[in-house]
Amino acid sequence: MSIANQINDKQVTVHTLENMALKGEKISMITAYDYSMAKLVDSANIDVILVGDSAANVMAGYQTTLPITLNEMIYHAASVVRGTKRALVVVDMPFGTYQGNSKEALNSAVRIMKETAANAVKLEGGQEILESISRILSAGIPVMGHLGLTPQSINKFGTYAVRATTTSEADKIIADAHALEDAGCFALVLEKIPASLAQKVAQELTIPVIGIGAGGYVDGQVLVLHDMLGITQEFSPRFLRRYLSLGDEIKSAVQQYVSDVKTSDFPNEKEQY
Ligand code: KIV
Repeated sequence: MSIANQINDKQVTVHTLENMALKGEKISMITAYDYSMAKLVDSANIDVILVGDSAANVMAGYQTTLPITLNEMIYHAASVVRGTKRALVVVDMPFGTYQGNSKEALNSAVRIMKETAANAVKLEGGQEILESISRILSAGIPVMGHLGLTPQSINKFGTYAVRATTTSEADKIIADAHALEDAGCFALVLEKIPASLAQKVAQELTIPVIGIGAGGYVDGQVLVLHDMLGITQEFSPRFLRRYLSLGDEIKSAVQQYVSDVKTSDFPNEKEQY
């Protein structure tokens, strides 16, 4: 068994999250897509690392999350697992790998678990994908649900605006959330919905509810790493708190390097053999 496959005493498991939610201890979750960033966020004591299909946007430069493939997600996830000692690693199942039929969904999830040694998968959607979720769960693979703004359905909705502002949409989210909990999902992500609705869902469910743009009355929060670090500068929704302006810092560091090379300031006597 490789080191990446061992679960050590300090590692966060789905049961750790369950207990945290029961005790009212907030769950911190963040995305990562590569070894170096995973190592950094893991050493900062993050509880959950999500290998999000937002990799399609922030790593590959696509406009939507739809183009990223299962092989590409496996590459990102395996890199993240190699950099992680403590956090629970959850991997997004990419568009088109679970909606068609439950057998394909199981095969995709099994590939993710076998080839990355991650701890769980995340799927977008509610009652319409329950068969796939049940089949994945029956193989002993923990599943995190994702409702509200589900970016893989962008072509259906046509906008990334806040979801569930009508009573019928809100009722569907509540019904879907219960269906996901009843099916056996260990946690649920709610993206970009009114805080009052997220609060209601979190109160009605026993599994941890983790929000992004869903207010503070939930069991935890998730942000996209590149957004909160200020690497992606053009994206500033109201819910995003930027903790750094890393994009500006990287740019000015590289500008300095360019200048040092051009002026022969770099390398100096001490930086050579
Ligand atoms: O892909 C992703 O990064 C996500 C989060 C926004 C929850 O699904």
